[in-house]
Amino acid sequence: MNYFKIFFVFILLSTSLFSDAKEGKELFNQASCLQCHNHEDFGNKNTELKMFKDIEARVQACQLAESDELFDEEVHDIAKYLNKDFYKLKE
Ligand code: HEC
Repeated sequence: MNYFKIFFVFILLSTSLFSDAKEGKELFNQASCLQCHNHEDFGNKNTELKMFKDIEARVQACQLAESDELFDEEVHDIAKYLNKDFYKLKE
């Protein structure tokens, strides 16, 4: 039981310490995203996304629809990656 708790805390810590755009890129490539999107879908002028949190909300909506079962933290990382490489919106 105690081992389980320690393990759980470790997982929580490691996801928050190492989460960033790099992680987001890997998640993006592993999740379902590329089944429907290619990179030209992101950050082009026709987008309705105006703020970083819009990207996050959209990633959340897409991944829920596809049952990717990502954690909020992972959704955040993917949004970070998309923003860094494509949208370049203010956070
Ligand atoms: C079943 C198909 C499908 C999958 C899988 C999917 N999306 Fe989407 N996504 C859409 C559709 C449809 C739209 C709305 C039309 C559009 O804007 O291209 C959209 C829009 C978006 C947008 C907004 C694009 C813009 O600038 O307007 C983002 C960001 C996005 N998806 C990210 C993701 C991410 C990240 C994943 C993987 C976790 C993902 N999507 C998986 C279908 C999908």
